[in-house]
Amino acid sequence: MKTPHASSSLDLPALESILLAIARSDIPRLSQEPKAVAAQLSTPLAQLGRGLTRERRLVRERYLDDPLIMAAYLLYYLPANALRIERVLAEIHRIGVFPQEDCIRILDLGCGSGAGLVAFTRFLDKTVASSLANAIHYRGIDRSAKGLDCLRAFWTKLRETHPEYRRHEVDVRRIGDIRRVILRPTEITAFRPHIVLASYVFNELFEDRDVSAFADAIHKIMQAMPEESLLIIIEPGLEQCADRLSRVRERLREEGWAVYSPCTHEETCPLVTRTGGQKQWCHQEVRWKRTPLQQALDGRAGFRRRSLAFSHLVIGHRGLRRPPDPYPPGKTRCVRALSPALKAKGRLSSYVCGEEGLSELILQHRDRSRLNESFKAIRRGDKIVLEPAGDMGAKTLIGPDRTIQVIGFDEE
Ligand SMILES: C[S@@+](CC[C@H](N)C(=O)[O-])C[C@H]1O[C@@H](n2cnc3c(N)ncnc32)[C@H](O)[C@@H]1O
Repeated sequence: MKTPHASSSLDLPALESILLAIARSDIPRLSQEPKAVAAQLSTPLAQLGRGLTRERRLVRERYLDDPLIMAAYLLYYLPANALRIERVLAEIHRIGVFPQEDCIRILDLGCGSGAGLVAFTRFLDKTVASSLANAIHYRGIDRSAKGLDCLRAFWTKLRETHPEYRRHEVDVRRIGDIRRVILRPTEITAFRPHIVLASYVFNELFEDRDVSAFADAIHKIMQAMPEESLLIIIEPGLEQCADRLSRVRERLREEGWAVYSPCTHEETCPLVTRTGGQKQWCHQEVRWKRTPLQQALDGRAGFRRRSLAFSHLVIGHRGLRRPPDPYPPGKTRCVRALSPALKAKGRLSSYVCGEEGLSELILQHRDRSRLNESFKAIRRGDKIVLEPAGDMGAKTLIGPDRTIQVIGFDEE
């Protein structure tokens, strides 16, 4: 029997004021007023945005050592990544493989300033009445002393404002290079984590084309993890990053590791073997309710982010038992939406991935019914359950008698 704790969930504006105070202790001239902070931080934010995504100039640099870049990271990317991680935790919970322990051990590889810690804390706050873990033992490792200092500082402040967080144990360690930890994984074997998290870190470690080094690393991590554990990998939503994850997933599947999310099936990834056709890649999207400061930063840095895209994999250790499938194959068909519902003349369509491969689901206006009305609500990343299962081809027409259930990825 778990003992629920009193909870006042950490909201993102409250987190922002703590992070702003930490950034100001490092940069005393940093303003407190959102528009002025945005003016001060928009250039480093734009540098970060470009340098970590399309241009990728920063990926092999110690960019968090620069106080302005660190401040931009803290106020913009940390909350954004925390939200992405939270949504993946909710997905793991829905699938039914979230660890059922009083205290779960989390190892955050490349934890930076602690987006993972924020995500787990907020997630447990929200699911407190359930049978989930009551507390975490979070261990973060990273090479950036600056990032770890910020994590320690905000955690210290959080424990002052939220005394209930004192039940969580948090320790962080500076390491030279994650690749060495992966090669000699005593950090993992000694800690025996229930969950290993790697958020926005592998794309900084491995060359874009080098899928085999990436897959070898994951294999090594999985081998060092306890039998009933999970590895969560979160990467940018860019096509090249998502495609690489799809190819890594294929290697892991061949080696017998179970991929719980985003895949709804255990067959070959159709995105890896496809030839030609409409270009889709496997990524998800979550809504982002930005604070006034983040809106001002977006405006100044020239970003237009109403939602946060990313790609991810949740890999289960061989010993982890998957609960009975609530959508039994044969009777139903469960697919993942690679696109939102797209409007075209006389119809709606959505590209999906399932055990029979890629398909374009099409709902013609004349076939709309009460059973399939949720088609219009499909968002990228959602699971779609079709009943009856029926056949699926490159194009699948949804008739008025086929029920469509949409299970939102972007749900808490
Ligand atoms: C984009 S940040 C992500 C931080 C955090 N996981 C998040 O989601 O916000 C990447 C992190 O990986 C760390 N990192 C990159 N390469 C590393 C390496 N070779 N060894 C250790 N840490 C590394 C960086 O210092 C940085 O903190």
